[in-house]
Amino acid sequence: MVEEVGPALFDRAFAADPYPAYAWLREHAPVHRAVLPSGVEAWLVTRYADARRALADPRLSKNPGRHSAAEHATGRVGIPGERSANVMTHLLNIDPPDHTRLRRLVSAAFTPRRVAEFEPRVRELTGRLVDGFAGRGSADLIGEFAFPLPIYAICDLLGVPAADQEDFRRWAGMMLHTSGKRGGVGRAVKRMRGYLGELIHRKRGDLGDDLISGLIRASDHGEQLSEEEAAAMAFILLFAGFETTVNLIGNGMLALLRHPEQLARARAWVAAGDEAALTRAVEELLRYDGPVELATWRFANEPLTLGGQRVARGEPVLVVLAAADRDPARFADPDRLDLGRRRNPHLGYGHGIHYCLGAPLARLEARAALGELLRRLPDVRIAVDEAELRWRGGLIMRGLRALPVEFSPEP
Ligand code: HEM
Repeated sequence: MVEEVGPALFDRAFAADPYPAYAWLREHAPVHRAVLPSGVEAWLVTRYADARRALADPRLSKNPGRHSAAEHATGRVGIPGERSANVMTHLLNIDPPDHTRLRRLVSAAFTPRRVAEFEPRVRELTGRLVDGFAGRGSADLIGEFAFPLPIYAICDLLGVPAADQEDFRRWAGMMLHTSGKRGGVGRAVKRMRGYLGELIHRKRGDLGDDLISGLIRASDHGEQLSEEEAAAMAFILLFAGFETTVNLIGNGMLALLRHPEQLARARAWVAAGDEAALTRAVEELLRYDGPVELATWRFANEPLTLGGQRVARGEPVLVVLAAADRDPARFADPDRLDLGRRRNPHLGYGHGIHYCLGAPLARLEARAALGELLRRLPDVRIAVDEAELRWRGGLIMRGLRALPVEFSPEP
């Protein structure tokens, strides 16, 4: 039995603002055994130093181990529906040496250079999305902007034909709007996975210069990705790169709208075309209210001591990135949003061998998105009372359901 101490976790108030609870945990129970909404018990790690160490600790496995049988099948740990959809062999679920091999193969196809070459396309996408509402004077920045942007971006990068991208938008919508309801997410995962399998099969005979063709081509000492592995990889790129980016843009814009003096700084950098300052600003938005609260699951593959707590073999551990990134032991004045912050070794993209593979793409999308919004909507403001903002309180991810804004319409 776990004795509940301290603040309530995972309720509605927590979803709107988890930071006071995280501050309490960091101070009083830095490695805390909590009952998650699914009923599973897990250790929450909230201090920066412990979090960074845990993320790089090889004794903490990504393989669900003893949890795989019952809990994994019902989506209580891992990605809901993934067992039924057979997408188990992806990066976030495996350890070395398999992880090393798969990561090397996908890195060969998903290079920073490929992402950099993609910049004009991302800028075109952000421009087109803002065209859709700039003349109207009001918009929901989640539904009309932050949500479609990463779907179209990743679909383009993977090489999903334009005609099929609306299907992805629909499936992604099912994933987002039914999060918490397992069946809907499972169905969406299954459809995406089925489609990607067929697409890979089709492309094998007609390789192009898209990322899926790159995955099919990728080989390592003569070893190639199997069709199954390539489909799992394409799926995890979509899955890992979707809700994260939606929430980085959504949480980031909300943070700016709540801090007018920081918003003014960002506007000045956009006007001056100061991409280096904007790049730093995106890192600070990620530290201040990043989309990933808890790094994905880890399981102790042997007994270990973490922050003074004994963790038994097989027990799940969740590293609370959002708490670590507000740790006063690591960041000066951590609750202050400072877009000019220089030393910013935040854990928003994780750390160690599972460090976010899509970070260059996420950075590009966020920079382009904020730039376009600030340039085109000069007097943008929140259109509702802040108490009316609703949060999607998933376990791993945190973001707004909608961000209604108003502004002077473009002529
Ligand atoms: C891993 C954050 C966008 C692909 C991770 C991890 C974090 C993270 C924290 C590590 C999880 C762990 O250690 O348990 C983010 C954030 C993003 C973002 C905050 C956006 C703001 C993307 C994008 C893609 C992507 C756009 C791809 C298109 C991946 C992949 C992994 C990963 C494949 C697994 C890497 C591995 O296990 O080796 N991400 N991510 N992410 N991310 Fe991202």
